[in-house]
Amino acid sequence: MTGEAAMTRAQIRDRASAIAAEIGAGVVLDAPLGPLVSMRVGGRAAALVQPRDPAMLALAVRRLHAEGVPCLLLGGGSNLLIADADLDHAVVQVAAASTTAAWNGCTVRAPGGMPLALIVSEAIRRGCTGLEWAAGLPGTVGGAVAGNAGAFGGEIASSVREVAVMSPRGDVRVHAPADGDFAYRRSFLRPGDLVLEVTLELSAEDPAVVRERTADVNRRRAGSQPKGGHSSGCIFRNPPGDAAGRLVDVAGLKGQRVGGAFVSPAHGNFIINDGTATATDILELIRLVRSEVEQRTGVKLELEVQIWPPGAEGETP
Ligand code: EPU
Repeated sequence: MTGEAAMTRAQIRDRASAIAAEIGAGVVLDAPLGPLVSMRVGGRAAALVQPRDPAMLALAVRRLHAEGVPCLLLGGGSNLLIADADLDHAVVQVAAASTTAAWNGCTVRAPGGMPLALIVSEAIRRGCTGLEWAAGLPGTVGGAVAGNAGAFGGEIASSVREVAVMSPRGDVRVHAPADGDFAYRRSFLRPGDLVLEVTLELSAEDPAVVRERTADVNRRRAGSQPKGGHSSGCIFRNPPGDAAGRLVDVAGLKGQRVGGAFVSPAHGNFIINDGTATATDILELIRLVRSEVEQRTGVKLELEVQIWPPGAEGETP
């Protein structure tokens, strides 16, 4: 990525606009990113590129990379915290290119940018079991695979049969996951990899049973996780053998506030933006929680959410 440091924001805007025009994608210059992420904070991208279909998406990433434009891929924005300062990057909106999924019995092939919720609801309708744990989860199926999303004893890794991945250089490979490709909230995907397509294999089941299991997950989620407010789900990974939320709780930090950001009184691993928070408030609260939890319990919590610009994690001790 040698050419990147030299590229000015104006050059990024110009090149991204030219590439978008050439391939027929939409583009917004100096686009605010806050509205596109569930935490509702973040600065502006130099350019937001909006491909209209998966082929255009692949082309956009290839062309931006070939021209040395620093580039980030934005999925559903539900597990992402973006700093307040403007980003000197082109951001490609992957979800803008999602189309419909192809079902064959209980096997489904879906574009990476498709909201996972659409697949979950169709699975219920068709009587396909395996994704009930994901009821109520935001984000895209590609993002779920990249971070091995999971809840209530399930995780996406159990259903993934094939993933078509494009590297930032534009090489596409179809990967059938094997042992070791997924771990707790981790996958074989590397930063900058684009999930073009995911094939999930579910199993046939009585639709009434699938509906009841889904309702159970919804009840459990409603009973243990906050409702309302802007958040990005759990902020920290669970440390081995424990729960980050429990540690935050025993450290007495529920309700702790920095500016417009506070630790949810319902669950210690959620930080909520009351609508007035900046990313700086949230990062400051993360710092405070990590340091208090470490002091009181000796456990150093690791972030589960991604932070942009990449590398800003280093600023949260
Ligand atoms: N707990 C507390 N206080 C709290 C929160 C939790 O004592 O404030 C205790 C609970 O009583 C329980 C234990 O900690 O004994 C675990 O809590 P919970 O069942 O709520 O699950 P979790 O480990 O905190 C994980 C995932 C969630 C997922 C739930 C449901 C992580 C970091 N979190 O939370 O995922 O929805 O299980 O299964 O793995 C996410 O990924 O964004 C996320 C929210």
